[in-house]
Amino acid sequence: MPHHHAARRGTSSMAAILAGKARLIPVLQVDNADHAEPLLTALESAGIAAIEVTLRTPAALEVIRRMSRAASSATVGAGTLTRPEQFAQIRDAGAGFAVSPALTPTLAEAAHAVGLPYVPGVATPSEVLRARELGFHELKFFPADLMGGTGWLRHMLPLYPDVSFCPTGGISDRNIGSFLELANVFAAGGVYLAPAKLIEAARWEEIRQGATQSVAVAAPFQ
Ligand code: 3PG
Repeated sequence: MPHHHAARRGTSSMAAILAGKARLIPVLQVDNADHAEPLLTALESAGIAAIEVTLRTPAALEVIRRMSRAASSATVGAGTLTRPEQFAQIRDAGAGFAVSPALTPTLAEAAHAVGLPYVPGVATPSEVLRARELGFHELKFFPADLMGGTGWLRHMLPLYPDVSFCPTGGISDRNIGSFLELANVFAAGGVYLAPAKLIEAARWEEIRQGATQSVAVAAPFQ
């Protein structure tokens, strides 16, 4: 195993990765691997501490490799994992955490095998329970806007006080405070922190300014 993974082994949760930092996770779709470094720099200088590169483009693994090599303050993770073999691939690329839109026993086994912090997606009380039984306590609530938003999260708190959530789907500066103020929300994620159109057009200064503004909007809810 490459040396740089060793230092990361102590970080076992997203709560540890985000401790004392902005609880915002940009969900990135990057088509061009040469965008890795300038995009990373824009987000790091905005105060972003965790970055999710989705495996939705052929360039994604190379972007994770280049971002995690260049990262100074942010942890670079991988998103949209839907196949078990992807866990070893993202670990080898240097990812510090993994996110999925859903969970199966096969994915759970692969996640445990690589040992990275893993945030599988759920949208119902049964899925929360199944995820907890499989050993996961930090879950992605997706799509948050369509599946009940803050009301759903409030219902989960008394049932599963040991589970916390990262809502994604429809998050924006307008509604993020209503999520982050909930006791069972550890972070919120979204493409709004770095829209794919701005990435594609290499508009790094706009991305930096937007993310800086979003970090400021979320700051009162730390
Ligand atoms: C995700 O995979 O988390 C979503 O694509 C993020 O949702 P959004 O596009 O509404 O931010």
